[in-house]
Amino acid sequence: MAIEPWKWVDREHGLVDRRIFSDQEIYDAEMERIFRRTWLALGHESEIAQPNDFFTTWMGADPVIVTRSGDGIKVLLNMCRHRGGTVCRTDRGNAKLFLCPYHGWSYGSNGALKVVPGLETDYRHGIDPADWGLFEAPRVATYKGLIFASWNPDVEPLEEFLGDATFYLDCILDRVEGGTELVGGMRRWIIPTNWKHAAENFVGDSYHAAATHTSIMRVPGLEGAGGRVKKPFGYQAALQNGHGVGMWLADEEDARGGYGHLAGVDDYLQTIEDQLVTRLGELRGKRLTPVHATIFPNFSIEFPFASLHIWHPRGPLKTEVRDLTLVDRAMPPEIKEMLRRHCMLRQGPAGTWEQDDMDNWSQTTYSSLSPTGRGLLANYQMGMGHEHTRPDIPGRLDNKSSDINQRNMYTRWAELMAMEPPAPAQVAAACRPGKEAGQ
Ligand code: FES
Ligand SMILES: [Fe+2]
Repeated sequence: MAIEPWKWVDREHGLVDRRIFSDQEIYDAEMERIFRRTWLALGHESEIAQPNDFFTTWMGADPVIVTRSGDGIKVLLNMCRHRGGTVCRTDRGNAKLFLCPYHGWSYGSNGALKVVPGLETDYRHGIDPADWGLFEAPRVATYKGLIFASWNPDVEPLEEFLGDATFYLDCILDRVEGGTELVGGMRRWIIPTNWKHAAENFVGDSYHAAATHTSIMRVPGLEGAGGRVKKPFGYQAALQNGHGVGMWLADEEDARGGYGHLAGVDDYLQTIEDQLVTRLGELRGKRLTPVHATIFPNFSIEFPFASLHIWHPRGPLKTEVRDLTLVDRAMPPEIKEMLRRHCMLRQGPAGTWEQDDMDNWSQTTYSSLSPTGRGLLANYQMGMGHEHTRPDIPGRLDNKSSDINQRNMYTRWAELMAMEPPAPAQVAAACRPGKEAGQ
């Protein structure tokens, strides 16, 4: 099948062909053309705070190990250079050596090949371990604690890729002295959905909340958990590179409150108000609260105390989620614990809100397998022709119930899908084997 993304995404009419949610060839092209080209979010620096700490995750369809070596943060393909065994088979930990269980080749935390059983006695023709280190992502960078990597050596600088999204990300990453950290463990599970249905929901789908989450919003005390302002007006902001964010904006000066059962969070916000205003300014310090966002392609955030969701595609019909809870490092321990429990209650495979979402994404994915249904186009027309800008809020804006961000995301999807994939040899040449320096 020819890859013809502009036939599948009709941006002029706000329509999308359902095949992009279930077709294997389109999925394979996404892995090459999107996930091997852009920056991808992997996690947070606090997950690998100590030397030799590591966690395992994915870059598109590639399994990787993220380590803190003596050479800094490394992102290594989790594949033994000998015959392709998986060298690390656990979620996270601390290890000086990764031992491949098949024949025993072992690698340092910087990816360098350290041990080859029988190097002297059995490899009689001689091999140089320096040539056989783990394959390494050529570009790794952090933004205020968040770790990103790319397989593309020519990818733009990370801050350029994030662009105006940093205006909103800073509302959680840079609000107080000391930055952020993760609390609790990591929730990791598989949803029977195409990854784009999760990404598009977070990029701009406020519209679904009233219908999808009716039941949880009727539970006294939980209905306001996640809001911050009392009488808000909402915006969606479509940003460059397919990113998007939804936000509340209060026009009144003092617009705090509204955390329902998280009353302690309101108190905490009161204590950091001066810092918020000093660091972020009056608008973001007092009146503007981001609510949800997706950094295209697969990193979503639920503000303001913050669930991070990374949607890892595992085939067209499956998505593996890596779900993390982010708090201010300087926050009182009891507030951190409150937020850890809040995110667990709300998100995750048993989360009160996420269960509702997952079921809908599964339905919208599987409907694209219906021989009759897949010929009918999906509608992303809400708010067409009503986008506007204002000088104090970055992005192309529309009301909070609008498909502006989804149209922006699928336009970026089509732009990338229309480009030739980066040549594998080019990527391979840029990924040098891990070297001996440091440990
Ligand atoms: S496949 Fe890893 S040591 Fe052989
Ligand atoms: Fe939802």
